[in-house]
Amino acid sequence: MRIAVFAGDGIGPEVTEQAVRVLETLAIPGLELVEGDVGGAAYRKHGHPLPEQTLEIARSADAILFGAVGDFSLDHLERALRPEQAVLGLRKELGLFANLRPATVFKGLEDLSTLRPEVAGKIDLLIVRELNGDVYFGEKGTRTLEDGRRQGWDMMSYAEDEVRRIAHVGFKAAQGRSKKLCSVDKANVLETSQLWRDVVIEVSAEYPDVELTHMYVDNAAMQLVKNPGAFDVIVTGNLFGDILSDQASMCVGSIGLLASASLAETSFGLYEPIHGSAPDIAGKGLANPMATILSAAMLLRHSFGMEAEAARIEAAVAAALADGVKGGDLGGSAGTKEIGDAVVARL
Ligand code: IPM
Ligand code: MG
Repeated sequence: MRIAVFAGDGIGPEVTEQAVRVLETLAIPGLELVEGDVGGAAYRKHGHPLPEQTLEIARSADAILFGAVGDFSLDHLERALRPEQAVLGLRKELGLFANLRPATVFKGLEDLSTLRPEVAGKIDLLIVRELNGDVYFGEKGTRTLEDGRRQGWDMMSYAEDEVRRIAHVGFKAAQGRSKKLCSVDKANVLETSQLWRDVVIEVSAEYPDVELTHMYVDNAAMQLVKNPGAFDVIVTGNLFGDILSDQASMCVGSIGLLASASLAETSFGLYEPIHGSAPDIAGKGLANPMATILSAAMLLRHSFGMEAEAARIEAAVAAALADGVKGGDLGGSAGTKEIGDAVVARL
C-alpha cells in the first residue's frame, strides 16, 4: 500500500500532515508513505509545478493523497508553469477521469449554510465530474484578428467514449445510492452537450433501475440553491462540474469538510480536499484538516476497498464535530493540530 503524499502549497502541508497522522494511527500493515513536490512549492525547488520525479513517485504509488496547489505570487508565470498545472497534469497523465465530489451536511451543522437550515439539512448529493476532457484540455490560444483585435479561444469537445465512461461511473454511483441520476449539460446551445446527452441516454439502457433526468446547467445552478435535497447523483462535464461543485460546497456551508476522489479506470486514485491552498491562513495552524482527513477515508475506500477503516475515520470526524471540535471555517476556534488530535483520539 504505497501512498504518495503531495502536500503542495499554502495550507496543503498542514492539512496533509494531520491526514497522514490519522492514516498512521490506523496502523495498516504494509502502509508506505512517499512524499513528493507539487505546485508552487515544486516550482520553487525544481522549476516546474509537476517535476518528472514527482510523476515517477505518482506512477509507482497505489494512490495519491493531495493537499492543495495555488500561489498568487506565481500567477505571472506562463500558464504551463503555474501551480494549478500540477493537479491538471496529474489528472491527465494518470488518466484520472472521474471526479467524485460528495456534498453532505453533517448533523448539527445545518446553520453553517447561507441557505435556510431546513433546506440545507436535506443536502446529500454526489457530483460526478468528468476530469480529462472538455474545454479544459482542448486546444487554446490567443490570436490577433485581421482588424487588429486580440481574441482568446478555447476548444470545447467531448468524444463519445469519454462521455460513455463517465456516464457509467455516474450510473453505478446512482445504483449505490437512491438510484437517481441527473445529467447536467447545455444541450440547448452546445453541440458538445447534445452529443453528451445522446450518449448518456444510450448508456442508460444498461441501467434500467436508475431514473435518468437531464438538466441545463443554468437551471441546475438554480435548483441547487432552491431545492438541493432533490438531487442525488449529478453527472456532468469538466467545466460545469467545476462550477457546480463549488456551488454545492457552499450550499453545505463548510468547504473545510468536503473531500474528493479523482479516479482512474483502475483502482488508482488521487484524493484531495476541495478547498484550495488558502494562502491567507497558510502556516498559521488555523486550517481545518477535516476535508483532507475525509479524503484519506475516501482513499482507503476507493483505492483499497477498506470500507471499515474508511467508515472509522468518518465516524471519528463526525464524533469530533458532534463534540464541538470546530475549525474557524465552521465558526469554531480549534486549530489544525487540535482538530487532528481530536480525530486521532476518537479513532
Ligand atoms: C478544482 C480546481 C481546479 C479545476 C483548478 C485548481 C485548476 O478549481 O479542482 O475544482 O478547475 O479543476
Ligand atoms: Mg474548482
